[in-house]
Amino acid sequence: MTRIAVVPGSFDPVTLGHLDVIERAAGIFDQVHVLVVHNPAKTALFPTPKRVQLIEQSIADAGIAGDIVVTSWSVGLLVDYVTDVGASVIVKGIRSQIDVAYETPMAIVNRNLGGVETIFLLPDPAHAHVSSSLVRQVAALGGDVAPYVPRAVADYLRPS
Ligand code: PNS
Repeated sequence: MTRIAVVPGSFDPVTLGHLDVIERAAGIFDQVHVLVVHNPAKTALFPTPKRVQLIEQSIADAGIAGDIVVTSWSVGLLVDYVTDVGASVIVKGIRSQIDVAYETPMAIVNRNLGGVETIFLLPDPAHAHVSSSLVRQVAALGGDVAPYVPRAVADYLRPS
């Protein structure tokens, strides 16, 4: 049986912490779907197709091995995508207790809605302080985001 996992998120933009979680998931599951999901609670900076392309490029640049599909989803519940592609679990990264508090209700709701379990992976602590929102803020104020994001994202954000 092919074990398929979905790694969902806003990825606005993808960070080194996200990439770390994607790599760990790819090492555990036969196939990983990295799913850019529209989060109605957030105003996105990057258009969805750009977020998908930056994730694809970052995975390739990092040489992350495995069967990894990068795509987007904006038409309904996450669990619908998960079950449609035959996945068994959702994978999310946990940096801190704040993430546990944020992720736990979503994991429970996804289990109630679709019988889908969520597995939490711990990224390298070196990335514990990295978030997309901080990256967006630093970039907007002209700071260097290269330590926090894959090269493709840093190049894209660099003022020309
Ligand atoms: O990176 P984020 O913004 O923390 O990711 C949150 C996301 C996009 C995974 C979450 O908002 C989500 O699953 N949205 C899809 C809509 C849905 O299924 N909602 C009900 C279960 S939480």
